[in-house]
Amino acid sequence: MTNDTNVHWHEHSVSREKREELMGHKGCVIWFTGLSGCGKSTIANLVDHKLHERGIHSFVLDGDNVRHGLNAGPGMLKDKHSEEFAKRFGLGFSAEDREENIRRIGAVAELFNSAGIVTLTAFISPYRQDRDRARDLVGEGNFIEVLVDAPLEVCESRDPKGLYKKARAGEIKGFTGIDDPYEAPTAPELVLKSGDKDAETLAEEVIAYLIENKKISG
Ligand code: ADX
Repeated sequence: MTNDTNVHWHEHSVSREKREELMGHKGCVIWFTGLSGCGKSTIANLVDHKLHERGIHSFVLDGDNVRHGLNAGPGMLKDKHSEEFAKRFGLGFSAEDREENIRRIGAVAELFNSAGIVTLTAFISPYRQDRDRARDLVGEGNFIEVLVDAPLEVCESRDPKGLYKKARAGEIKGFTGIDDPYEAPTAPELVLKSGDKDAETLAEEVIAYLIENKKISG
């Protein structure tokens, strides 16, 4: 790869195939998307647990957690030095910041994926174009987009972090589903009806999909 930045891609000396051989399975990215409170993190963590029990190397990247570190915004980091950087490079919830959030997560997920890890991401990722860019980066076949589909009323009635209440009261501006858009995928690999079924059942649906599509053995 050539460019004008003097930064060049270095091929890994251990091939992806060799890594996967050692792992005993292939990597992939399971990209959960949906409204806040729809169950993304709960389901992703259950799937992670089930994969771990099956001896599969997996890892969850979760919106709230990543926003405490890699993408932390101002006021989130303890030491003063890091806080300065969070002010410059930290991310909030504008359309542009969400795009950058998803761009960074897409890049991190692809690194995990190429290391042979079954990578589960749980971000609202409200914009179709941003998710499609992550799909392009990871590559068709390795990117499994999972819509965690619960009606807004259900997510709002759960309100696990009390954020919908704040958004309705105008204390949070630009809250997804209230006064900010959510663009549902048009052709996700999987749809989980999290308004009707419990998280355990839905996690099993993900495992069944992975077996059916030969991502893991049954
Ligand atoms: S994303 O839109 O950029 O993909 P992400 O998944 O990282 O969002 O973070 C979403 C979490 O941040 C929500 O579950 C909620 O806890 C919190 N949050 C805080 N402000 C907002 C907001 N304006 N819109 C949506 N979620 C918010």
